[in-house]
Amino acid sequence: MKIINGNALETIPTLHKINSVVTSPPYYGLRHYGEYSLEWPTTEYCEHEWIEYKSKGISGGTKSKKVKVKDTINYSIVEPGNYAFCNRCGAWFGELGQEPTITLYIKHLVQIFHEAYKVLDDTGICWVNIGDTYAGSGGAGGDWTKGKRSEAQKWCQQQDEIEDKSLMLIPFKFQEAMVADGWIFSAMDIWEKPNVMPSSAYDRPTTNYEFWFAFTKQKISIPSEVLKIPTGQNKYKHFATYNINVCRKPISYATGTVLDPFCGSGTTGIEAVKQRKDFIGIEINKEYVGIAYEYISSSVPIISSGITDI
Ligand SMILES: C[S@@+](CC[C@H](N)C(=O)[O-])C[C@H]1O[C@@H](n2cnc3c(N)ncnc32)[C@H](O)[C@@H]1O
Ligand SMILES: [Zn+2]
Repeated sequence: MKIINGNALETIPTLHKINSVVTSPPYYGLRHYGEYSLEWPTTEYCEHEWIEYKSKGISGGTKSKKVKVKDTINYSIVEPGNYAFCNRCGAWFGELGQEPTITLYIKHLVQIFHEAYKVLDDTGICWVNIGDTYAGSGGAGGDWTKGKRSEAQKWCQQQDEIEDKSLMLIPFKFQEAMVADGWIFSAMDIWEKPNVMPSSAYDRPTTNYEFWFAFTKQKISIPSEVLKIPTGQNKYKHFATYNINVCRKPISYATGTVLDPFCGSGTTGIEAVKQRKDFIGIEINKEYVGIAYEYISSSVPIISSGITDI
């Protein structure tokens, strides 16, 4: 069992063969997971010139454009939590899930899973838990960022022209992009949550389901099911934790190392260790790495003695 502190995009290529991916990426436009931003690679070489963008309508606004030029290399001093585009090549700088458009968010997810494809066994399965969001809603689970719509959703509405109150169909846009990138879409489970609180919004229904998509490299027969399982809650409330029971089925298919590239509080790790499978987690937020170790070790006594392995 190992949890690595890093960006999934850069860390996955350093792994040896893995047998299974079981994960839940940051959903679109919902939460901030920490004070970090990433520069997303583009194919062309560019000396980036970062232009910060502002999101309209957020009280307080964003800081003014800050670009410094040192020798010939431009570098950004964009504040953490802020986002920038390169004026020259269109590259983007920011946190996964907070992209200004759905298209860019999905591109980044597919880039990360593309790396997983390369290290995944030919018979392996990549399970992705993903849900949809109503445009302008603040999120499927009501996870408003400090009580306001997140910046990304504002931008999405401006740029992708999705009407308020419309489902954004993100899971299916993601699924299409994964198949276009070479994955086989082998199965889809629906996770139905019987305990979801009715939405306080009067003009859109409560979302009480999410999806588990199973992507493979070869045709593998996996029965699609509806899993009726309550939402998870652990003491780490700031996480979008999934219930440990929803990863039981995906992990049961693993015959070797299970990878969760968005490890969060480590729920996948608990179930993997319970099923006596080797587990690797990747998590960008250092603080969460410690939490995941603590959560896994306190939930699964058999490994509590072996936590030296960071
Ligand atoms: C939806 S949460 C996962 C929750 C997890 N399933 C659990 O039960 O706790 C997504 C996680 O991905 C992390 N994350 C976001 N961008 C990342 C990246 N580029 N590389 C690695 N981890 C990332 C976030 O910090 C967050 O903890
Ligand atoms: Zn550039």
